Amino acid sequence: MENRPLEYDYTVAKMFMLTTVLLGAVGMLIGVILASEMAFPGVNTMLGSLGLNEFTNFSRLRPLHTDSVIFGFTLSGIFATWYYVGQRVLKVSMAESKLLMFLGKMHFWLYILVVAAAVVSLFMGITSSKEYAEFEWPIDIAVVVVWVTWGLGIFGLIGIRRERSLYISIWYYIATFLGIAMLYLFNNMEIPTILATSPAGETGIGAWYHSVSMYSGTNDALVQWWYGHNAVAFGFTVPIVAMIYYFLPKESGQAVYSYKLSLLSFWGLMFVYLWAGGHHLLFSTVPDWMQTMGSVFSVVLILPSWGSAINMLLTMKGEWQQVATSPLIKFMVLASTFYMFSTLEGPIQAIKSVNAIAHFTDWIVGHVHDGTLGWVGFMIMAALFHMAPRVFKRELYSKSLMGTQFWIQTLGVVLYFTSMWIAGITQGMMWRAHDEYGNLAYSFIDTVTALHPYYTIRAVGGLLYLIGFFMFAYNIYKTMTSGRRVEESELQSASPMAA
Ligand code: HEM
Ligand code: HEM
Repeated sequence: MENRPLEYDYTVAKMFMLTTVLLGAVGMLIGVILASEMAFPGVNTMLGSLGLNEFTNFSRLRPLHTDSVIFGFTLSGIFATWYYVGQRVLKVSMAESKLLMFLGKMHFWLYILVVAAAVVSLFMGITSSKEYAEFEWPIDIAVVVVWVTWGLGIFGLIGIRRERSLYISIWYYIATFLGIAMLYLFNNMEIPTILATSPAGETGIGAWYHSVSMYSGTNDALVQWWYGHNAVAFGFTVPIVAMIYYFLPKESGQAVYSYKLSLLSFWGLMFVYLWAGGHHLLFSTVPDWMQTMGSVFSVVLILPSWGSAINMLLTMKGEWQQVATSPLIKFMVLASTFYMFSTLEGPIQAIKSVNAIAHFTDWIVGHVHDGTLGWVGFMIMAALFHMAPRVFKRELYSKSLMGTQFWIQTLGVVLYFTSMWIAGITQGMMWRAHDEYGNLAYSFIDTVTALHPYYTIRAVGGLLYLIGFFMFAYNIYKTMTSGRRVEESELQSASPMAA
């Protein structure tokens, strides 16, 4: 192994940091618009009077929100951290291989092309209508190319590494790559309608970019929720765990609490997650045993999920004072806590009798956002805060701005999920209330009226989170452009890992 420190090349990491911030801001802004449309229906008519109705109505904007925060913000965050963490823990610089640099840049530019195509097509209302798999076949093929390019980069870097042992984060990044590849391919098996034949014998139906799923009916639903649920696993969990296993020990200077526990929870997650998707289809036409299997595996999933989260929290053992002094550690510790929180809430919602109340209600939306805002969002921002001074070689612009951001966003998340809990449970109870003859006690509009205050609180919570995100973007921008120049050796990092 060389003695002089390696000069890592962060060109591609920086490119993806940029898209993480930009697409995060856009996706969350659309989230706030959606929340406002629900809280203040006048927003719809106001936007409509500007002649934008076709593009700004709820149904057109919703997939734009979900896809931009998932495939824009989260995925960019995953790529940005990979191009940073990968080199450091494998102890090899991308600059050492022209091919890897080329692949990295190609990965970025192809990704940008796919994002542009996705945004335009969703705005135009072109969608396969499967949640989180809305893109039509030409974009799906492009997604596969982007993914393969990333994979070549991952295995290429691993192939030329100096560090023989693969640090835990690397297992999680590899699992992300393999997991999403498998899910995306199977769920998006579709036939372009121009190649299909209708029951009446017509061929060449519809626009060239339209398609129909290769599966039908219940099978389609099963594959879709096997995908949907595991997109949470391999998009919102596995790569985010990869990040925390690297950035928390690095930032705190503490060794990971237990390698055995990390190994156990890794294989536990890999095995258990794949069987739990049936909890999205409880009380549906899916065979009963599959629904029960979905519920049972969901409850078992608490174990590996909490295994990782507890491992992270115990990593801070003896160093808890850092939570008080460092806003960055606060972000990561709260992220682990929200991870524990949503992975307890999810299994509870997967119990059939609870799901009978929760399904289709805002409680599910609350669950989604305590996971995504509290866990995914906080961890990605923490990772970028840690990376920025090291990749731009400049001191972080403002620690106190980061601290203020933390509290504003924490308040935002709390307002978001508590309002959605109350709204969801109220909604579920009102829908099922009936009199002694079986007549429903409430009409649909009664529930809408009852939920209105909570929608307003959610919109305020979402706005606070968005304001915090703009503070984050500003802090990163100022770090990049006007922070005091520093060398990495000056940055505090008593890390247990050499890199
Ligand atoms: C032990 C882990 C988890 C379990 C067992 C679980 C379980 C559930 C259940 C039962 C639902 C509701 C299905 C329905 O009735 O519609 C759900 C929905 C959802 N969960 Fe989780 N959850 C877990 C962790 C997470 C985490 C950590 C996140 C995000 C970071 C997350 C994101 C989602 C999303 C996005 C949906 C909504 C899907 C949709 O209907 O569009 N879950 N989850
Ligand atoms: C400022 C922050 C945000 C606000 C105000 C917001 C708001 C919303 C709203 C209003 C919906 C539609 C709910 C419905 O159909 O009833 C939604 C759905 C969703 N959002 Fe967000 N969001 C935000 C950030 C995020 C982030 C950062 C992520 C992921 C990383 C995310 C992931 C999702 C998902 C997966 C859904 C679909 C949930 C489901 O089908 O149950 N959101 N969001």
